[in-house]
Amino acid sequence: MRFFIDTADLDQIKEARDLGVLDGVTTNPSLMAKSGITGAKNIEDHYKTIASIVDGDVSAEVIATDYEGIVREGEYLASLAPNIVVKVPMIKDGIKAIGYFSENGIKTNCTLVFSAGQAILAAKAGATYISPFVGRVDDINWDGIALIQEIAELYAIQMYETEILAASIRSSKHIIDAAKAGADIATCPLSTINGLFKHPLTDIGLAQFLADHKKSNG
Ligand code: E4P
Repeated sequence: MRFFIDTADLDQIKEARDLGVLDGVTTNPSLMAKSGITGAKNIEDHYKTIASIVDGDVSAEVIATDYEGIVREGEYLASLAPNIVVKVPMIKDGIKAIGYFSENGIKTNCTLVFSAGQAILAAKAGATYISPFVGRVDDINWDGIALIQEIAELYAIQMYETEILAASIRSSKHIIDAAKAGADIATCPLSTINGLFKHPLTDIGLAQFLADHKKSNG
């Protein structure tokens, strides 16, 4: 399973990249606002900067919700850098636009996916990625990881090429469970990637090794 980082924060993107485990970046309008990036020009420049920091795909989300607007905005976003993927919401005009982008060689990430039925529509439209929101499904007391598993099973049966990008990841356990459920990618906050390092026996074992080395070597 590949790792994307789910943030617009440049320091966090660089930290994940420098670990050597980063395969891409996802952003959304809320994450851009959280990083204080406002105004069309600043947002555009920020996407260009992110796309220059990582080699992998960078999702840039459209604000338009009508077909013509999504196509216009998406084509513009895709022109900013070769690794920009147009992130499109799971709505009727979004699915139509994903079909257009697919026919015109522009990669897409269908976002706000919460059901297997939506995942089928996005795959049929030719989405490069779909983003089922694991954490937000859990928030309403449903099972986000079960959704990933259901989509992975039906994509395998139908041989759809769309990749499953598990989003709204809230914990390191979500990352592990998404991998077991068949996600192709998990897009994660940096804290959840760093959480994968943690194990008390690693800390205890390392302290013991260093202490023993010091005893024998001074
Ligand atoms: C990423 O593509 C999604 O927009 C993001 O993972 C949503 O996460 P949240 O539910 O924590 O806001």
